[in-house]
Amino acid sequence: MKLLIDDADIQAIRRVYEYYPIDGVTTNPSILARVGLTRGKRNPYELLTEIREFVGEDAELHVQAVSQRAEDMVEEGIHIAEMLGKNTYIKIPAVKEGLKAIRILSAEGYRVTATAIYTPQQAFLAGKAGVDYAAPYVNRIDNMGLDGVAVTKRIHDLFQKNGLKTQVLAASFKNTRQLLELVEYGVGASTATETVISELCRNETVDRAVHAFLEDFESLCGEGHTMLNV
Ligand code: E4P
Repeated sequence: MKLLIDDADIQAIRRVYEYYPIDGVTTNPSILARVGLTRGKRNPYELLTEIREFVGEDAELHVQAVSQRAEDMVEEGIHIAEMLGKNTYIKIPAVKEGLKAIRILSAEGYRVTATAIYTPQQAFLAGKAGVDYAAPYVNRIDNMGLDGVAVTKRIHDLFQKNGLKTQVLAASFKNTRQLLELVEYGVGASTATETVISELCRNETVDRAVHAFLEDFESLCGEGHTMLNV
């Protein structure tokens, strides 16, 4: 499963990239607004270009179009791809106008991610329309009183059973349990915040075990020594 960071804050992206194996970055208009307003960068391309330069041209960068009509989504999506390079995925909401735009963009060879997916039926239509990824919002579905992980598994299954090339890009995680269940199920990709990604390997019992190894070694060789300098 690919793992992406869901953020537009270059500092958070740098921190996560430094420590963890990450395949790319996802953004949405709300993330761009939050980060842009905080950092005084009101043109989203300033943030996105900084991200593209840092992650490199081979990493995935997902950027959402905000137009409401299909023709405008197509024009906006092409502009996004032209501005940000070959591995840019144009995020288009899986609504009626969006499905029309997805079909056009996909047929023209652009990389497209269907977003704002809350139901398997939306995902099915997006898959048929030719998207590369469909992004179900796991925690938001949970908040509707449904089971976001179960819905995401159904979406993964329906792509497989219908021979569609579309992969799941699971999004909107609030905890590692949601994410781990989908890793175990083998969905194509997940995107999560720095907090959730960091929580994947935060464990005080493990930290204590590692610290005990250090204490034992130092009792043998003296404080500050390692296998490099004994
Ligand atoms: C990704 O495609 C979504 O835009 C994002 O993960 C939504 O996350 P949220 O529910 O935390 O806003």
